[in-house]
Formats: sequence, structure tokens, C-alpha cells
Amino acid sequence: MKSLSIILVSFVFLHCGHASQPPTTIDEAAAGPTKAEPKTATKTWRFAIISDLNSSYGSKTYNSAVKSAVSYLADANNKIDFILSTGDMVAGQKKNLDYLGMWEAFHSTVTRKLLEKEIPLFPSPGNHDAHLTRKIERDHYRNSWLQENPLSVAKHIRWVEGVEQDFPFQYALTIGNALFVALDNTAVRNWSDNTLVWLEKVFTQESQRSLKFVYGHVPLLPFAFKKETEYVARGSAAFLNKVEDLFEAHKVDVFFSGHSHVYYPGRRDQHTQYISVPLLGSGSRYLIGTGSVNERSPQAFLVIEYDEQGHWQLQHRQARGFNLILDESFPTTIQIPAQNSSLCKSCSKFPQSHMLDPQQRILYRRQDL
Ligand SMILES: [Fe+2]
Repeated sequence: MKSLSIILVSFVFLHCGHASQPPTTIDEAAAGPTKAEPKTATKTWRFAIISDLNSSYGSKTYNSAVKSAVSYLADANNKIDFILSTGDMVAGQKKNLDYLGMWEAFHSTVTRKLLEKEIPLFPSPGNHDAHLTRKIERDHYRNSWLQENPLSVAKHIRWVEGVEQDFPFQYALTIGNALFVALDNTAVRNWSDNTLVWLEKVFTQESQRSLKFVYGHVPLLPFAFKKETEYVARGSAAFLNKVEDLFEAHKVDVFFSGHSHVYYPGRRDQHTQYISVPLLGSGSRYLIGTGSVNERSPQAFLVIEYDEQGHWQLQHRQARGFNLILDESFPTTIQIPAQNSSLCKSCSKFPQSHMLDPQQRILYRRQDL
């Protein structure tokens, strides 16, 4: 990670100018921004990433960690410009739930608390929000976000032009000199060729951006104990290589994923970092290989600050009390156990082709090492 060379003590306040309208159709989205891109040459931006806020199926309440985190993020003293979500905001993926009521509960607990402070929330769907195979839940997800319209307070976004935009599923925008790409990434399956072509177009179009952040729900490779088989590159070394080559070729800085319910700042010995975003809701987990040895990942959120030159830094804060959690307190690598064991029942079958170091069965190294 590059480090910010200057600690900026003041922020240019964002809230001026006209609101960008959400694209309600692909054509409208592809038509690009409705106003000129603002000048942001000297600005430092600060955004947060939240993930996995839900509780039991159909739940219409949120735990105190979620409410506490929202209070921090909405507090003007913390100068959060915007927020990304890596999914699982409601607890669907089950028939006959009160989807309208669930989304109402989420928006009243989270989205509107932020909108009141003019902080937009940019969602990406999780499997419990809008799984690829669940049309009814996907319709609710789309309608709910279009109606809530968090982009109404997103004053400084610019839609990437010349590519299909499908807010709130898969879309690409820039804020300052950084590119943000949200993925419709709700299933344990390789991304389609269409998605890979779309990503390539977005990266090519915005090749001059000093920072590139991709975010979506399911991780490319696993992080969590008992979720070792739930990852996008499952079953295909060719797909994994294709994605890693694409990210490296375009110098993608981070792929943020949710779903794992653990925090880990990983890298794969190249430029791109793979950061697993911690959960705020229920179901905290262990990292692979550490089950019952380490503590479960605490409920937490991430705050990232970046400048126009491409420097950025990350804070990992506890949801209650807001204490910083240092990366040094996490294992130096994620290693897949060699044998079936209490640390990972399915790990002996994990593909050698996906490991950084097949001898030591290393999947990720900590980003600072
Ligand atoms: Fe999930």
C-alpha cells in the first residue's frame, strides 16, 4: 500500500453543486454525467466500506454493531464522503419473506441515516440481497435502490462513459481520480465472459485513473473457515489466471469482497490487493487455518483515504467503540491446511493451481509483507 505523504487536516466539503440522478435505464446511465466533472485537484477523499449487515432470514431489525457503525459514519466529524457496500444488507435468499419490509428496515436503519447527512451509499448485491437465480429478490433489490435514490446526494460522481451501466447491480463511476467498479457478484461461480469483457472496457476507458477499486460480494478466493468452497474462482485455474491477469494488466489496486465475515488484507505477490471486508451483522467467522485458535473476526468497518495522486491508506475500525485494529494482529499468510482436519474439512481437495506457494499451501500474504 502506498502511504499518504501528507496528513491532511482539512477537507474541502463536498456538498455543493447539483445532484447526479440515478440511471433508471442502461441508455440513460451510458449517457454519462449530467454536469461537468468538478475540479478536485487538491482534494483528499475519505470513504467507508461496510458489509454483511444482516441477521437471521427475514429479519427486520439490525444489531447494535450496525447502528453504532452508522452513527460513526454519519458523524460529520469523521468526514466520510461516501460509502460502498459489499452486500448482504438484508437476509433474503428464501421464499415468501417480506422483502419490502426488510428493505424498509435496512434503509431506515442505514441508508437514510446517511442520506440525511448527504452521504451516498453505493451498493453491490450479496447472495442474500439479490442472488443471480432469484428474480423476485432481484426485482425488489433494484426497485428499492432506485426508489431510495442514494445518488441524489452524490455530487461528485461521474459515470464511466461508453460502457453499459446497470445501477444498483454492475456499474462504474469515478470520484476524483479514482475509479470504482461495482460487480453483480452474488454467486459461487466464475464470472461470465460478458462480465470480463465489460471490466476490460471499463479499465481501458479509465486507464488514466490513479486508483482503481473493484468491489463485489463473493471473494475471488476464500478467506474464511467453513466457507472454503465459497469463492468465485472455484473449479477453474484458467478463470483465476484470467481475472488476475486482467487486474494486473490494468493495475487494479484493490478487489474488496464481502461474504466471508472476516477481515484480511491479502495480496497475491503482485499489485492488486484482495481485501476481505469485515462484517457488521451476525455470524462472525475465523480465518482459514485459524478456527478455534484465533478469535473470530470482530464486527468492524473499513475507512479509506485517498488523494488525487494515487496515495491511499486504510483504517480497520471496530463497530463498537471505533478502536483501530492493526493489520499486524492478523496472520502473515492464509494457508490451506494440508489434511482433512478440524481446521478445514475440505481443504485437502483445494486446487494446487490456486495457491501462491503449493509447497506451503499459501493462498494470500498479508499486504504489508
Ligand atoms: Fe453472503
